[in-house]
Amino acid sequence: MTKHILSIDQFTRKDIEKLFKRAEHFKAIVEKDGGTDLLKGHVSANLFYEPSTRTSSSFAAAMYRLGGNVIPINDVQYSSVSKGETLEDTVRTLEQYADVIVLRHPDVGAAKRAAGVASVPIINAGDGVGEHPTQALLDLFTIFEEQGRVDGLSVAMLGDLKNGRTVHSLAKLLALYDVELLAVAPNELAFPPEYGKVKTYESLDKVIDKADVLYVTRVQKERFASLEEYEKVQGSYIIDGDVANKMKKSASIMHPLPRVGEIHFDVDANPRAAYFRQMRNGLYVRMALLEQVQAN
Ligand code: NCD
Repeated sequence: MTKHILSIDQFTRKDIEKLFKRAEHFKAIVEKDGGTDLLKGHVSANLFYEPSTRTSSSFAAAMYRLGGNVIPINDVQYSSVSKGETLEDTVRTLEQYADVIVLRHPDVGAAKRAAGVASVPIINAGDGVGEHPTQALLDLFTIFEEQGRVDGLSVAMLGDLKNGRTVHSLAKLLALYDVELLAVAPNELAFPPEYGKVKTYESLDKVIDKADVLYVTRVQKERFASLEEYEKVQGSYIIDGDVANKMKKSASIMHPLPRVGEIHFDVDANPRAAYFRQMRNGLYVRMALLEQVQAN
């Protein structure tokens, strides 16, 4: 494994097992003491060229709870990026001050490009419609926590499977396990061919009572050429209380969030709703990831 975290492709089941053991360890520490000073003196830079709430704050909280500090660049328009600085130069600048760079960027392959010039680890926090590997890892961790296992499960992914980077990384990750992947999307938003031959259902009714996990996603408005095209598919699937109750009693409903109407608020109190616990798990998994890249 490289010191960078760029894609799910670099992980094996063994790596994931090790990582999740550490995430469990950090969960226990945070619940008991709030944090540790394992990375005392370490500094991370959050370099975000696209909006973020959960990813940037959970990476920051993870660093703080490991005893380190964070340089937050959450609004690149106020940095030299707005003066025309290249990604490469910005990365080579931040590595003078930080021990790790967490990068979100609109271009596919941006994290890889950054890793090409960086002497500190780069963590891909989303590269356009490419990947979002740390999200997929916290998603998988959540499946283990909620379902007690991953092998043997049916996982349905719903929504924008074309543009959603979280489902791209999660589909790659689940391919390491014995999982039945059920894709539900309008034709225009099906998985791109590089994610394998996934049978796609247009109707949620076909899979709703089969799925152990329903992973819902937002239609990625910012990736559409026109508002008209977006509006054609937005609102294709809505999970409300009635739909949720058609699922197995033991099923989990997940969402990377933000949601923009695809899961009604009346689902939040349903025991199947796992999306707030999923967010919390992001903290523990990102603590484990920061520890890993700083140990390399
Ligand atoms: C996702 C993202 O940025 O890809 N958000 C997140 O990191 N939790 C999902 C999305 O924006 O729809």
